[in-house]
Amino acid sequence: MADFTYMGTKKALAKRVADVCDFGTNGPLLELFSGLSAVGRATNASRPLWCNDVQKFSNLYCDVLFATQGGFSDVSENWDTFSHYYFDHFRALYQAFGTYAERERELWVTPNHGEIAEWESETFPQLQSTGKTLDRQTTYHLFTSTYALGYWGVAQAIQADSIRWALDKMVTEKLAGESSYKLALLALCRSVSNASNSTGHFAQYLTPSAKNLERVWQKRRVCVFDAFRDAIEQIRPTGDEAWRATNRIFSGDAISLASEWPFATLTPEVVYADPPYTDDQYSRYYHVLETVVLYDYPEVSGKGRYRPGRFVSDFSLASRVESAFEKMIKGVADLECSIVISYPGNGLLPNSREVIPELLATYFRKVLKPMSIAHQHSTMGASKGPHKHEVSEWVFVAQS
Ligand SMILES: C[S@@+](CC[C@H](N)C(=O)[O-])C[C@H]1O[C@@H](n2cnc3c(N)ncnc32)[C@H](O)[C@@H]1O
Repeated sequence: MADFTYMGTKKALAKRVADVCDFGTNGPLLELFSGLSAVGRATNASRPLWCNDVQKFSNLYCDVLFATQGGFSDVSENWDTFSHYYFDHFRALYQAFGTYAERERELWVTPNHGEIAEWESETFPQLQSTGKTLDRQTTYHLFTSTYALGYWGVAQAIQADSIRWALDKMVTEKLAGESSYKLALLALCRSVSNASNSTGHFAQYLTPSAKNLERVWQKRRVCVFDAFRDAIEQIRPTGDEAWRATNRIFSGDAISLASEWPFATLTPEVVYADPPYTDDQYSRYYHVLETVVLYDYPEVSGKGRYRPGRFVSDFSLASRVESAFEKMIKGVADLECSIVISYPGNGLLPNSREVIPELLATYFRKVLKPMSIAHQHSTMGASKGPHKHEVSEWVFVAQS
């Protein structure tokens, strides 16, 4: 099964940047914008790793990989009970939504893209209305009434809701501990991502058309339950438990975290910052995964079915990016630790190659000469041209 795709993950650079961060006395390395923490993973547990991101999905990912304590296999070890809860709930949900799942199956036997697209857009409001008649406490139906006939088919969404319900039931019955629950929730994120009918992220789903019909069908055939089963066997924490006990997960705005540091004596030794570098807001691309984690029945809107109150990052706003850099750099300097920043030469901050060293020199004692690494960047989607292109990634280092 494919791993998560994540915009901005500079996997190819990770080892080199991790080597740049490898200085000092092996005190904690804080990733301020951790995403899927490519650099954190590349440090190979050589020092405590602290991860921050404003996205809950990133927090969950880093928590499972880097901070798991105790057993994490309760769901696999109690698979029969889990399956029993799952199928019980699946049957209940099928009573409410089964006619839609059956019609969906019929339509895909000899698919006609126009007919399917029309049926999907007419039927989605009916899924929403059916959802309103159900009790959220006893019948989990968020995925079915919010994302079906968009990112997933009806049957896939029923599977996803039933997995979520069975997991929560395992916790209330004290059959799954916290670490097992988190790992299973991450496995659910992975299985629904794999089934998602979109271009690798959740900005928008594909509406069936003559051009993409085969691709949509390929996604609609993914069995979310089987994918979940594979994922809970494949996802494993990294490093050993003693190292993981030294790691921490923070969940918030990087600027606020650095400038309102929550501890009096405990500080990182090196901060690594890999902020967004385009005007694409990450929250627009990962909103569905936020909802998988929060399961809070958002009132979605727009073609992409976005959750309300999505985070807007100053690093992705042309009018604010420079002051965001300055506030972050000042906040980190006040912590009296060192900083490593990676940023592409063509990022949203104009003249970053000159501006970042100037800002660093204002707040730090020693600024090293910037290093350049040739690298392929991903862009957020086909509308902006090729998915990958060559750029120079600049790595800036300053010491307090
Ligand atoms: C370029 S990506 C980082 C990718 C990461 N290095 C990796 O390996 O996956 C930027 C990340 O910053 C997060 N982000 C954006 N603005 C933020 C802010 N103001 N505070 C904290 N996180 C933020 C986004 O959610 C995204 O995960």
